[in-house]
Amino acid sequence: MCEKCKGNYYITTPIYYPSAKLHIGHAYCTVATDAMARFKRLQGYHVKFLTGTDEHGQKIEDKAKAAGVTPQQFVDDIVLGERGVLDLWKLMNISYDRFIRTTDDYHVEAIQKIFKRMYDNGDIYKGKYVGKYCKPCESFWTDAQLVDGKCPDCGGEVQEAEEEAYFFRLSKYADRVQDLLENTDFLEPRSRVSEMVNNFIKPGLEDLCVSRTSFTWGVPVDFDPGHVVYVWIDALFNYMTALGFENDKYHDLEDFWPADVHFIGKEIVRFHSIIWPAMLMSLNLPLPKKVFGHGWLLLDGGKMSKSKGNVVDPYILAERFGVDALRFFLLRSFPFGSDGNFSNELLINTINVDLANDLGNLVSRTVAMALKYFGEALPAQQQENPELDAELLAMASGLRDRYEEQMEKFAFQNALAEIFKVISRANKYIDENAPWVLAKEEENKPRLARVLYNLLETVRICAGLLTPFMPDTAAEISRRLGGAPMDWDSLNKFGVLPADVAAVSGPALFPRIDMEKELAALEELSKPKSTIEIEPYTEESVDFDTFCKNELRAVKVKSCENVKKSDKLLCFTLDDGTGTDRQILSGIAKFYKPEELVGKTLVAITNLPPRKMMGKPSCGMLLSAVHKDKGEEKLQLIMLDDSIPAGAKLC
Ligand code: ME8
Ligand code: MG
Repeated sequence: MCEKCKGNYYITTPIYYPSAKLHIGHAYCTVATDAMARFKRLQGYHVKFLTGTDEHGQKIEDKAKAAGVTPQQFVDDIVLGERGVLDLWKLMNISYDRFIRTTDDYHVEAIQKIFKRMYDNGDIYKGKYVGKYCKPCESFWTDAQLVDGKCPDCGGEVQEAEEEAYFFRLSKYADRVQDLLENTDFLEPRSRVSEMVNNFIKPGLEDLCVSRTSFTWGVPVDFDPGHVVYVWIDALFNYMTALGFENDKYHDLEDFWPADVHFIGKEIVRFHSIIWPAMLMSLNLPLPKKVFGHGWLLLDGGKMSKSKGNVVDPYILAERFGVDALRFFLLRSFPFGSDGNFSNELLINTINVDLANDLGNLVSRTVAMALKYFGEALPAQQQENPELDAELLAMASGLRDRYEEQMEKFAFQNALAEIFKVISRANKYIDENAPWVLAKEEENKPRLARVLYNLLETVRICAGLLTPFMPDTAAEISRRLGGAPMDWDSLNKFGVLPADVAAVSGPALFPRIDMEKELAALEELSKPKSTIEIEPYTEESVDFDTFCKNELRAVKVKSCENVKKSDKLLCFTLDDGTGTDRQILSGIAKFYKPEELVGKTLVAITNLPPRKMMGKPSCGMLLSAVHKDKGEEKLQLIMLDDSIPAGAKLC
């Protein structure tokens, strides 16, 4: 630990499943973790912030197969590819210190050692699994745990499953885990404790199936080929392998374990508050100090989820509103421990009210007035006026402590509310002191300078405390206050800016958004973009009698072959019901292999005059449907039901 540090602080996010691109719900947890990590750094802690990806399991194996790639290629694309996980965290300005992928060699080897250690100490044993399996959740359930016969996590169908498997003696740790949950503040919010104890521990904690033989995309059990380690065992230990547990890649275990806090979503509290501590107990390892199960971002009242497809794209939101506004919105609008309903209206409204109006206006009015009335630097100031200034000064200088109290409880929304109380008070202070009136009399200039100094100083404190939420905005505000200090020790003191502070102008930090227009634009963007082009309709009409002269008939393909020296033409021999074969040439070789068409029933115009193509006569034309997709030509022959006899007239 460094001398100047207050101590070490280890914080983690869940490691994400790269089974599809991430959405704003995933960004929610990561932004919260980032805000906490930045807050701790601001306080002076040496922070280790871990995030990563959880890349094994049947779901990924299945998805890769469906996509026609290897599981490794599949996860590489979602993690490293364009707009993948790493790109998203870069976009969202996530200041993680370490990124773990469970497919990293050091992690895989460490998991094998960990599994073996629990096998050797008798806590993992071989048995037979009979139960119900939920594929999307990769979870086995007992009948008692099912809700209406369905998976208690996702509500999906479960399948009967039986296999030889290894088990972890979870039952052995039931009492110790219950004690941990009930009698310590290991799990927060406290409301999640009774759910765990009543739903999972009290009904009887059964041993946990910790290996699989039904698929191969996982960490192999090295002493029993054919078995792979259950993905949750593999995943949970990431928090320690990423520090060097059972591997030589890293050496931070002593400094950072036990973790200060694991931030996780509420649906994975069971894994983190029951299974995780039990496994650590089995290995006699220190337990993390805290697990915090946050709520979900809901869309139309339901969980945003990759499988439901109702996800909100963080790229679109960040591009339109800015990353800081989006980060701010997520933590300002919803209490971290509870669910919150995401909507575009709420997002735009939060930006308009808090950022454009309250914060943005305070900064732009204050800086503009300082520049307008005094130019480069503030002149000498009058002493504070206790009557007019006391409340603002008290609120601003006490803000850091009130904010800290909330941040320590992960109450981000409350911490931000404290800041915005001061921002509102400062806006009111402008109106109370009417600088534009003071500016009229030369003798009031020292008072005017005091008013502006107080405002600049209040802005400094507020912006400094906003750093964990909006790092770029805070840095920009510091610049506008002439490079104002925003270190932790300066944020509970009033009067840190030099008396001759020189403000710097800049464009509006958060331009006001036109709600109606923006909602319409977002609506437009959310519509699936068609890549299909169809031929424009003709204006010209054809008279009925002329149209009726076309003779359309069903024809059956007797044989079909490529025309020599032509890469376009196919030559069809067709049964047209007359008893004499009909030959038609058609320029569709790009779209079909001749052999796929034999036996098909097609539609031909049969009364066109014969013409020669590549020296061969063609008597008619086959009908097809054509369009373009992503600029590429597509063609399909019109095919009829095979029960329609050759020669049937189409009318
Ligand atoms: O669970 N609102 O990965 P994951 C809030 N690999 N949070 C949400 C959310 C939403 N709409 N949707 C997802 C896993 N999340 C495991 C973790 S940790 C050892 C292994 C959160 O990609 C979710 O609650 O399915 C979870 O905490 C995180 O995103 C990762 O979800
Ligand atoms: Mg999940």
